[in-house]
Amino acid sequence: MIKGKKILLGISGSIAAYKSAVLLRLLIKAGAEVKVVMTPASTQFIGPLTLSTLSKNEVLFELSENNSWANHVMLGRWADIMIIAPLSCNTLSKMVIGTCDNLLMAVYLSATCTVAVAPAMDEDMWLHESTLNNIKKLESFGNKILPVEKGDLASGLNGMGRMAEPETIVLWLNNYFQTASQFAGKKILVTAGPTHEAIDPVRFIGNHSTGKMGFAIAKDFYERGADVTIVAGPSNQSLPPQIKRLNVVSAKEMYEACMNVFNDMDIIVMSAAVADYTVSHPAKEKIKKYESELTITLEKTIDILKSLGEIKKEHQVLAGFALETNHEKENALQKLQLKKADIIIMNSLNDAGAGFGYDTNKISIFDKKGNEFLFDLKSKQEAASDIVNAIYTYSNG
Ligand code: CTP
Repeated sequence: MIKGKKILLGISGSIAAYKSAVLLRLLIKAGAEVKVVMTPASTQFIGPLTLSTLSKNEVLFELSENNSWANHVMLGRWADIMIIAPLSCNTLSKMVIGTCDNLLMAVYLSATCTVAVAPAMDEDMWLHESTLNNIKKLESFGNKILPVEKGDLASGLNGMGRMAEPETIVLWLNNYFQTASQFAGKKILVTAGPTHEAIDPVRFIGNHSTGKMGFAIAKDFYERGADVTIVAGPSNQSLPPQIKRLNVVSAKEMYEACMNVFNDMDIIVMSAAVADYTVSHPAKEKIKKYESELTITLEKTIDILKSLGEIKKEHQVLAGFALETNHEKENALQKLQLKKADIIIMNSLNDAGAGFGYDTNKISIFDKKGNEFLFDLKSKQEAASDIVNAIYTYSNG
């Protein structure tokens, strides 16, 4: 899978830079074309001559050399992936802020390809709140973080912070290239977040959904080569700019946005927590507190998933969620049938760590063909990956 791929290897200043030569050798052996970009600091840990000999390409580390300018934009466009290994604490922090003070940073900031990083640092540095926050931030930009490993560190201590071994990085890259084109050419619609149903111009009826699960699903599809559109209720989650985002507020707006794009879609995942009821007559002016009681009349919203199930074409795959508190599986299977979906993803509010607001979720997936996938509690990004895998299995099975 690595064979024929163009890989940009970024090296920053860490003692683990000596392992970059091994990584480079493994990549070349696997048939990749590799170009190396170094930070000036990293050249103190490993010589550019070693790396240029192994890569059979000139190693770049200056923004300009001999009065000529290194074209950082073209490098980021040339590569299928940029992997920064090792990623030092300093370069991590620059990536978060967007500091452009060396060639590696210029390439990173202008890269249009996926960027993966393999951090390397001492345990105390790794566990510092600022480092952990920076890693989270980097992840939110859509960058891939290869986990650090536990073992002997440069300080003489033993703990977390070692760069992933070159063999592990190669395995990760293999897997990345294998999945990166799984949904190439496919158009995906994901709904996410809550809806807000206006009571008057200042108040609404909503729910606790943050949109995390739907946004994670959208990102996972995008990373597997899909053309993704998200219809999002009010949510502060961020997305890579390549994902089209249609912002809506109410269930009615979400229905209309979905209907507008539905015909073009191959796969539709309805993960939004759509309000089941909306206010029949929202007040035009702010409701004053003159009365001691207030009655608001609600009416049912359109069930978007069910409406799409009714008009779904043969080639389209429709997945919905079932958030349950009792008789979970039974209710979920009933929703699968009733709403004419192909796949239903069930989560139960009885599972600790699952549901609204958490960064984790515990899901079970049932499909029309009778497949059943049960999962443990996982991060929402990992759960998203399980959901996308199940959809891939269903679509290609
Ligand atoms: N859904 C929808 N439109 C609605 C309500 C729900 O498209 N007006 C979708 C959700 O996005 C989800 C699925 O239907 O994919 C199931 O949502 P859930 O809240 O679990 O169930 P409901 O159908 O609302 O039924 P109930 O609240 O009675 O369990």
